[in-house]
Amino acid sequence: MPSPYSHATYRAWLGEVRRQRDEGEGLHRLIELEATGEVVGAIGVQGLRTGRPDIGYWIAAPFRRRGLMTAAVRLWRERLALPYLEILTHHGNLPSQRVALAAGFIATGEVRRDPRPGLYGEFLVFSAGEPPRR
Ligand SMILES: CC(C)(COP(=O)(O)OP(=O)(O)OC[C@H]1O[C@@H](n2cnc3c(N)ncnc32)[C@H](O)[C@@H]1OP(=O)(O)O)[C@@H](O)C(=O)NCCC(=O)NCCS
Repeated sequence: MPSPYSHATYRAWLGEVRRQRDEGEGLHRLIELEATGEVVGAIGVQGLRTGRPDIGYWIAAPFRRRGLMTAAVRLWRERLALPYLEILTHHGNLPSQRVALAAGFIATGEVRRDPRPGLYGEFLVFSAGEPPRR
């Protein structure tokens, strides 16, 4: 999550989400609490045309540690029904790594450079399913 997160950040994200949807590259959804209708987070998949799509997610701070994201990732994976999926997490993002494992992904041991231009972070790769042949 970018920090600070301004309205402009949100609009840029929304634009990117629409572009990915229109070009068949990704699909993103908000997470709403059924009981109250509150929007508490988001989950999405990108890289649909790469053979190595990856799931991204966040939950608003007051709603964390209730198992919501583990349930959301499991449901999202079921709905997407793709043969192979990845979750990329930064080294220090233990909560995200725990979500990946709790949702049935495995730690591949691969460390991948951030593919976005100008960014040099490294991601730990978690996977589910059969990877495509390179
Ligand atoms: C990562 C994030 C989505 C986790 O969502 P969540 O709904 O709190 O996760 P869950 O309640 O399903 O917890 C899943 C597991 O992670 C563990 N966990 C969650 N937050 C944790 C924390 N802060 N420290 C240690 N473990 C944590 C839970 O104990 C649980 O482990 P278990 O299955 O062994 O019991 C949430 O912290 C978040 O939105 N973070 C900011 C955005 C982000 O980092 N997104 C991921 C980018 S790859």
